[in-house]
Amino acid sequence: MDNQTVNTETILLQAADNNATAGTVGQPITYEKIPTQIFADSKEASNAVAQEIADLIRKKQKEGKMCVLGLATGSSPKTVYAKLVKMHKEEGLSFKNVISFNLDEYYQMEPDSIYSYHRFMKEQLFDHVDIAKENYFLPDGTIPPAMVREYCISYESKINAVGGLDFQLLGIGGNGHIGFNEPGSLINARTRLITLDHSTRAAAAMEFGGLHKVPRKAITLGVSPILSARRIVLLAWGERKAAVIRGAVEGPVTERNPASYLQAHSDVTFVVDESAASELTRVKTPWAVDSVVWDNKMIKKAVTYLSQSLQKPILKLTDKDYNDNGMSDLLAQYGAGYEININVFNQLQHTITGWPGGKPNADDTNRPERAQPAKKRVLIFSPHPDDDIISMGGTFQRLVDQGHEVHVAYQTSGNIAVADDEALRFIDFVVDFNNNFAINSPEANKLFLDAKNFLKHTKDSEIDTPEIRQVKGILRKGEAKATCRFVGIPTENAHFLNMPFYETGTVQKKPIGEEDIKIVENLIEQIKPHQIYAAGDFADPHGTHKVCWDAIEAALERSKHKNFMKDCWVWLYRGAWAEWDIHEIEMAVPMSPDQVLKKRQGIFKHQSQKDGVVFQGDDSREFWQRAEERNSATAHLYDELGLAEYEAMEAFVRWKF
Ligand code: F6R
Repeated sequence: MDNQTVNTETILLQAADNNATAGTVGQPITYEKIPTQIFADSKEASNAVAQEIADLIRKKQKEGKMCVLGLATGSSPKTVYAKLVKMHKEEGLSFKNVISFNLDEYYQMEPDSIYSYHRFMKEQLFDHVDIAKENYFLPDGTIPPAMVREYCISYESKINAVGGLDFQLLGIGGNGHIGFNEPGSLINARTRLITLDHSTRAAAAMEFGGLHKVPRKAITLGVSPILSARRIVLLAWGERKAAVIRGAVEGPVTERNPASYLQAHSDVTFVVDESAASELTRVKTPWAVDSVVWDNKMIKKAVTYLSQSLQKPILKLTDKDYNDNGMSDLLAQYGAGYEININVFNQLQHTITGWPGGKPNADDTNRPERAQPAKKRVLIFSPHPDDDIISMGGTFQRLVDQGHEVHVAYQTSGNIAVADDEALRFIDFVVDFNNNFAINSPEANKLFLDAKNFLKHTKDSEIDTPEIRQVKGILRKGEAKATCRFVGIPTENAHFLNMPFYETGTVQKKPIGEEDIKIVENLIEQIKPHQIYAAGDFADPHGTHKVCWDAIEAALERSKHKNFMKDCWVWLYRGAWAEWDIHEIEMAVPMSPDQVLKKRQGIFKHQSQKDGVVFQGDDSREFWQRAEERNSATAHLYDELGLAEYEAMEAFVRWKF
């Protein structure tokens, strides 16, 4: 039997095992039970979905019929709504023939609360288009408990009375919920009051400013009425959704992942970006699905995957391992597995350096950074005041210790992530300080009283006053300055950019504007760095990290023709949530146990972000724990692949124009 035959048979066997469908000869094998479209990014994907909705509205208009839409809230559909608003304003898309029903609303929830889905829909869509007020419906979060059951029946009846849903837009929870049909919901579940999963509440904690503020219940359209929609499109962006998307698309139909019920629908499409698609078999191990072009990136990806899945160091992989795992054509190209092993091993080896700014007077042919100039000007962009130390604290310290001129640019104030009682404590401090030193400051006293009053009586529909926001910002600035002192850079090298897009007082930010880009551009021009470090979290389209990167990218684009830029390399680190895939990493900076401890102490300077922080998210670990676990996982991975064993490692990818 030649290699090719073994390969095909293995794939077919795997396909049978995984319940995949093998096409006729030459056709890719598919593991996917739901049609899934992968787009380069969420913007492109959202435009396509908005176009489909617009086409449907117009088609119905021509037929003189109403178009009945099922709508979702959450971060995923925002870009779709933004595009629809644009189409209304610029192309005259009318919503006069639209009737819409939203999936869900928190319970109890006043419609004017800043946390309500009513307010969300008005702000994202309804207030900007010509839909009639009497034509949009959301579950009522104020219905008395005794009437909820009856109310839910009437909500479904209302949908049926207008002919049922023509189109249902869905997001998906990290736990697979659709609407708020949490795991455990049955396929025939009707519209009802449900108890939210802990993971759902934790994911919403960010918007609400703390887990304790997130309602425990919600009213949701049931699975059954969702499945009754004639057409369904589910959106998912970002790597946080990757595992659940794979489960729903390729896994069994199960109440553990309610989105898997959509496998039973005859006209459903999942629209995902590349990150949310990253766990699908065709993306994760494309060589197991179809023939691939074995370029260097693909080889690195396949070999590191093979080594991890067989739990064998790279240099111990055999020809048989390659053949048995769908990589016989790669083997045929190289002749022997050993050659491939050595090649990939060396590439990984060359990513490791204790000299992130380059090693002076050393041959840099196989090093990630240039030796020259020996002393570099380095500019670290930190979206929030603590991302520098959390994400690259070890590298930051090495750059300083190795004599480079290091600057940090704190892009936003981070003020919304400070708890109210922290702010009060600091205002109180100023008042006591003034009293102690006989400083007469009626302004400080007034600020304290106003803040105390405001924070005591604040309602859900209110956001922090500008003064409180300012106090919270100053507090975080002090913490960042403390970290800089701790690492050893002069205070004047800490640049607080206070980018305006962030200053709304809520999780919802303004789009980036000219002013934001100009601030970043001016700083780059002022420092003329040889190295820029930036947070490369592109996955979350609404996250502050992504917006901060957009501003840097735009500024770099404008500066690229300038002379100093020819000598400037850009390195990307990842935020607190995920790490780069091993095959993507281009620089890995190791840390000793002592360096790990020092980094931890640097993170501790951010006291307002310790112990039950405002934006805990669905990860209950503190930031220093996340950072340590992630850095040690990267080191462990290198070790498992057969490279040197370090305590921890920080990883970077080089960005090029
Ligand atoms: C919202 C809804 C939820 C969300 C889901 C994903 O109306 O029903 O199912 O779609 O929680 O939320 P995001 O899009 O914020 O990740």
